[in-house]
Amino acid sequence: MKDYVERVLISKEEIAEAVKRLGKQITEDYKDKNLFLICVLKGGFVFMADLIREIDLEFQMDFIAVSSYGASTKSSGVVRLIKDIDVPINDKHVIIVEDIVDTGLTLKYLKELFETRNPLSVKICSIFDKPSRRVTEIVPEYSGLTIPNEYVIGYGLDCGGLYRNLPDLCVLNEEYHKK
Ligand code: IMP
Repeated sequence: MKDYVERVLISKEEIAEAVKRLGKQITEDYKDKNLFLICVLKGGFVFMADLIREIDLEFQMDFIAVSSYGASTKSSGVVRLIKDIDVPINDKHVIIVEDIVDTGLTLKYLKELFETRNPLSVKICSIFDKPSRRVTEIVPEYSGLTIPNEYVIGYGLDCGGLYRNLPDLCVLNEEYHKK
């Protein structure tokens, strides 16, 4: 085991199963709807890549980039939109695809932002959820796996930009937490 990994929390096989389930659910719910997936960079890209291949529909997608934590493991509560989507969404059913809902501040900001553009609907799909840390009313309509209040890395999630490539979701060793 790598020294920055305290332990594996969720194996890549369990993650794959959850992604399959979410893809199937979205496929059923969005038949005959103009679906538009918006991936939240950077953390959401691994999940997005797996999820789209489990959705058996025709749909378009785009990416946005936000910054919330910077290089630290503590939330600043400040969300900054670094890259916006390129198209209008007023004729679309939007799903925001995110790696993890923690405090919910990022998704509250994004949901409100996209709602101002009058889409047909806006829902949230997150592969991981830490409900014990929530400070907002955000509840993802599509939620993969609930995890305890621990700082996790892997499957797209980072600490200081590192460890996104780990295939399993792992708990970060305390000694590697940045202030
Ligand atoms: P929120 O705004 O507090 O819900 O945080 C959302 C963002 O914080 C996520 O998209 C992640 O990028 C990051 N984040 C929250 N918890 C963790 C974690 O345990 N590990 C890595 N990143 C996290």
